[in-house]
Amino acid sequence: MTKPRLRIGLIGTGFMGKAHVFGFTLAPRVFDLPYELELHTVADITPAAAEAAARRLGFAHSTANWHDIVTNPEIDLVSITAPNALHKDMALAAIAAGKHVYCEKPLAPRASDALEMTLAAEARGVKTQVGFNYLCNPMLALARQMIEAGELGEIRGYRGLHAEDYMADAAAPFTFRHDPAGGGALADIGSHALATAEFLCGPISRVMGDCVTMIAERPDGKGGTRRVEVDDLSRAFLRFASGATGSVEGNWIATGRKMQHDFEVYGTRGALAFSQEHFNVLNFFSTADARGRQGFRRIEAGPDHAPYGLFCVAAGHQIGFNDLKAIEVAGFVNAIAGAPEPFSFRKGLRIQTLIETIQASSRAQAWMDVP
Ligand SMILES: NC(=O)c1ccc[n+]([C@@H]2O[C@H](COP(=O)([O-])OP(=O)(O)OC[C@H]3O[C@@H](n4cnc5c(N)ncnc54)[C@H](O)[C@@H]3O)[C@@H](O)[C@H]2O)c1
Repeated sequence: MTKPRLRIGLIGTGFMGKAHVFGFTLAPRVFDLPYELELHTVADITPAAAEAAARRLGFAHSTANWHDIVTNPEIDLVSITAPNALHKDMALAAIAAGKHVYCEKPLAPRASDALEMTLAAEARGVKTQVGFNYLCNPMLALARQMIEAGELGEIRGYRGLHAEDYMADAAAPFTFRHDPAGGGALADIGSHALATAEFLCGPISRVMGDCVTMIAERPDGKGGTRRVEVDDLSRAFLRFASGATGSVEGNWIATGRKMQHDFEVYGTRGALAFSQEHFNVLNFFSTADARGRQGFRRIEAGPDHAPYGLFCVAAGHQIGFNDLKAIEVAGFVNAIAGAPEPFSFRKGLRIQTLIETIQASSRAQAWMDVP
């Protein structure tokens, strides 16, 4: 039986644009999806860039005007991988035209924008997804299962961070990631750390933030410099609604770190330790192990950790970053067919609210309740 088609429009063809295409291409080959996925039209800022991307990535059409995508009745799903400050206008236009929207994080510059986008999508009845790809890792699903099943006992503490060094060089130029509208390390990568914290330990109820700009000026790419107003690193102490305590960090000047999306969870009967740089491994410590034999044991990802087995029948062979995007796409396509949305705009709104509360708490130098 032929499946209905889901025709895709992609806006932006950089790092994440390509990752979305990997996801759309791989997901139907790994999962039994309810739709055929068709790469319909791709948009970038010039006709030449859009045409080149269409050829390279396999889209039938290209345009230098993203409005062509959101208004085209042939397109069902719009992927937004353009700079953060553009997400809101693009998503609202796509939602108004009845398209399902898959938007990269951070969802919007401000929580009020994210709320508007969320309410618009819910009122229009379209499905939405935000690119929190690290949550698609089968080892994170395992960590959550272990916490929920009580294998760690009562959770007392959480330490999470997302640290990289792509802005550590003061000569690295001003980009959209420094735009006060939606920029900064906390929004750019701290958003992932916050999403993981709540994915594992539930709602964060109070925060005490410290958001710092370490490099106050950057080259503007035109021979001059431009003042930087956003944070280079942010940390926050956390209290979870469960009573657990924690901390989280978003840091893009962590010299030497390439993908330290890491966490540790401490319970009364056990602990977990994880690093995204080795993301096919979850380390588990159990107080039930015999004295003198205790230590973190290394659990290698394998077919017992769904959906790993759909990618590879052998444990320890490892899945990669783009495979997480395929899992993310599969979740969204299934949601369009009626399954629950894994990480909808409402989740993006939640993360935006946490970011803003941490920033407000840093300015006030005081603990704050998360609204
Ligand atoms: N989920 C993740 O792990 C992850 C990783 C990296 C980036 N991101 C997010 O993805 C988004 C894009 O980041 P990136 O690293 O791919 O950036 P990038 O600079 O590599 O790509 C951005 C693309 O958008 C295009 N663009 C800019 N303005 C446009 C417009 N008006 N119309 C159409 N296209 C336009 C650019 O030409 C470029 O192709 C950001 O929101 C970022 O936060 C998410």
